[in-house]
Amino acid sequence: MRILVTGGLGFIGSHVVRRLLQEPDVEVTNLDALTYAGNLANLADVAEDRRYRWHHASITDEEAVDRLLAQTHFDAVIHLAAESHVDRSIEGGVPFVKTNVAGTQILLEAARRYQVDRFLHVSTDEVYGSLGTDGLFSEESPLRPNSPYSASKAGSDLLALAAFRTYGQDVVVTRCSNNYGPFQFPEKLIPLFITNGLEGKPWPLYGDGKNVRDWLYVEDHAEALWLALVRGKAGEVYNIGGKNERSNRDVADTLLNIMGLGADTVVLVPDRLGHDQRYAIDPSKAERELGFRPKHHWDDALARTVDWYRQNTHWWQAIKSGEYLEFYHRHYRSLGARPDEP
Ligand code: NAD
Ligand code: DAU
Repeated sequence: MRILVTGGLGFIGSHVVRRLLQEPDVEVTNLDALTYAGNLANLADVAEDRRYRWHHASITDEEAVDRLLAQTHFDAVIHLAAESHVDRSIEGGVPFVKTNVAGTQILLEAARRYQVDRFLHVSTDEVYGSLGTDGLFSEESPLRPNSPYSASKAGSDLLALAAFRTYGQDVVVTRCSNNYGPFQFPEKLIPLFITNGLEGKPWPLYGDGKNVRDWLYVEDHAEALWLALVRGKAGEVYNIGGKNERSNRDVADTLLNIMGLGADTVVLVPDRLGHDQRYAIDPSKAERELGFRPKHHWDDALARTVDWYRQNTHWWQAIKSGEYLEFYHRHYRSLGARPDEP
């Protein structure tokens, strides 16, 4: 099977490429623009594999996307490429609309033109907006995105479903909760706190730290995407989650414990604008119809994630400079924090 993965040089995409290459009859082409969030080091271990190749282009480049799909017939597209960070989208949403909305439509149209059998669109639980203290997101929950990031993902999610309804294009959509694990870009909560901890820097916790996320180990997400690709039904949406709700304060406390750091590492900073209070996924449809079951347990997998960042300092130190550092200082100063002071 020939699969086109988009965004394979990012965090989740790199795990998806590695998971796909475990299937002996799969060949992977990775279409990735190598933005600030992409990293060739994320797939250095498979770069020489004859069944893998990286195609350097943006999904917003219609001609490049058309040329690639005209040259090679793909059996499936797994679409992960996106601008993915909520805080950056609050600074400016235009790149999010271009890549997430326009880029997705360009890919959907090319996939239709060149008769790709299946288009797996990787969406997010953030499209549902925010929950109060009770309830879970089901596939029937209304879409109520709150940030430019989640609104752009909701737009792309709806374009994918519209392609099924209008043209009968074989599209499957997944909506997953927060991922964690190796190779996550250190602007996101867990890798930011781990790497700041290793550097002796403080952990900026937004607001009162009571916001809740449902955490899933990234390899479990990659497995779920494979199952959705081979077992999902066209036109269907599948929620994917870890049944693992944690407040941000709880995540910080668990990490302090694993890393042997004191409570004064955590510094409360003013809240993210429009900060969603709680996400929680009902994954029963994916369990029932795809046979999805997370294999990794939070405490073990989080401790192994900390070990990975300890052992791969060269990976994140190379990132935590240049453009990243500019964003980091600008962002946390705008919240009134002093990011360099331990
Ligand atoms: P990421 O930011 O780590 O990686 C994004 C990748 O997409 C990078 O390799 C980047 O170079 C590439 N990319 C960006 N713009 C591109 C463009 N215009 N053309 C081609 N490539 C481009 O993201 P991630 O956290 O791995 O998320 C991957 C996908 O999964 C996204 O669609 C995201 O919305 C979704 N998702 C993420 C999470 C999570 O917890 N991280 C949870 C649910 C869903
Ligand atoms: O739910 C899935 C989504 O999870 C994905 O669609 C997004 O691509 C992914 O980035 C993630 O979004 P979040 O906004 O939930 O992730 P983030 O790691 O940025 O933040 C997690 C929580 O931690 C959130 O409540 C905000 C908080 N936070 C984050 C940062 C970066 C802090 O308290 N301090 C921080 O410095």
